[in-house]
Amino acid sequence: MMTLDVEALRKQIPATEKMTYFNTGWDGPSPISVVKAVQERFEYESYNGPSTPEVLESGAAIEQQSKEALGKLINASPEEILLTENTTDGLNVVLPGLDWRPGDEIISCNLEHPSVLLPCYNLTKVAGVKLNILQLSSNSTHDEILSKLEAAFTPKTRMVFLSHIEFSCGLRMPAKQIVKMAKERGVMVMLDAAQGPGHVKLDMQDIGADFYSTPGHKWLLGPDGTGALYIRKDMIPKVRPVRVGYRFAKSFDEKGNFEPNTNEIDKFRVSTTSAAIRAGYLEAVRFALKNGAEASEERSLKLASHLKSELSAVPGVKVTSPMEGPECSGLVTFTVDGKEPAAVVSDLWTKRKVFIRAIGYPPGIRVSLAFFNTEAEIAKLVEGVRAATK
Ligand SMILES: Cc1ncc(COP(=O)(O)O)c(C=O)c1O
Repeated sequence: MMTLDVEALRKQIPATEKMTYFNTGWDGPSPISVVKAVQERFEYESYNGPSTPEVLESGAAIEQQSKEALGKLINASPEEILLTENTTDGLNVVLPGLDWRPGDEIISCNLEHPSVLLPCYNLTKVAGVKLNILQLSSNSTHDEILSKLEAAFTPKTRMVFLSHIEFSCGLRMPAKQIVKMAKERGVMVMLDAAQGPGHVKLDMQDIGADFYSTPGHKWLLGPDGTGALYIRKDMIPKVRPVRVGYRFAKSFDEKGNFEPNTNEIDKFRVSTTSAAIRAGYLEAVRFALKNGAEASEERSLKLASHLKSELSAVPGVKVTSPMEGPECSGLVTFTVDGKEPAAVVSDLWTKRKVFIRAIGYPPGIRVSLAFFNTEAEIAKLVEGVRAATK
């Protein structure tokens, strides 16, 4: 495994000089090389005519190289990857594109992000789908999760739709076992992996999910407006494009005849996108590959574990995230007795330039521990929390 030269990496991420940034789970600060890649590509397009053959060709190459780079990071084939704008965008390619029948059931859980819950709620209205919401807690164990899931399956269950890592508390789901359980019952699995790439090591072949939606702007430290959806090859024909652009058909004529493109993931592409932000995305994925997913994950987990033990020693502070084991990630959530999360967040930002976020449900204060964070930053945060308890 590679070892990270954290000090050298921090020099490449300008935000780390200005503040203590603990909110990568929302939006990660980009390295200089990512900013430059966007800038250079945009300049190149503007100065050389954005639709000239050379510019178009190099734009298509950025797209292909991005899929190849992400494919390497998550062990998937570029043919199974669609570039999207963000995690939610990818989830919304799949969910409304499946052939739902009234009474079909989706299993999700109470800890989910609105990006999971609301598309499901919508489907209950427009397609008569039923939602079965597992009641979990922030520190549920894998055994508890799997036994609740097992009890929730019915002959009508068509999909399990959960986050790989819960945004609210960092609880890492037993993705591989969930997929196994679902597959034994012929049930599809879609994972919201907003908290996945750049944060933890990923292997699509090992996890085996049907659909896996990821962002570029969080732990990958890419630009906003980037992301990627993985659809396992055999599932591509089963999803009908809901938004249709020129790649929807292999051929068509002006009389209304067309031959649909059913098997290629490109069928979901709608129209013109920005090669400039994708150049930034490509650079971000390459940056993550250079650092090594295993090394980044190991550092996040080590920092998270250190923060949890420091916070646990502060009277009035309660860590709500899992404390140890395979349920852990680089997200740590805690509460402060008698204090509104938003007030603590605001206090730390205005008084100490320490940036974290409040979580609405279950209520808490969330810290994202990325590979570029340090023990010294954790000490600063804990000092601020201690002051907030008084
Ligand atoms: C689990 C989860 N899902 C979805 C989202 C929304 O992400 P995006 O902006 O990539 O759509 C987030 C963002 O924090 C998240 O944590």
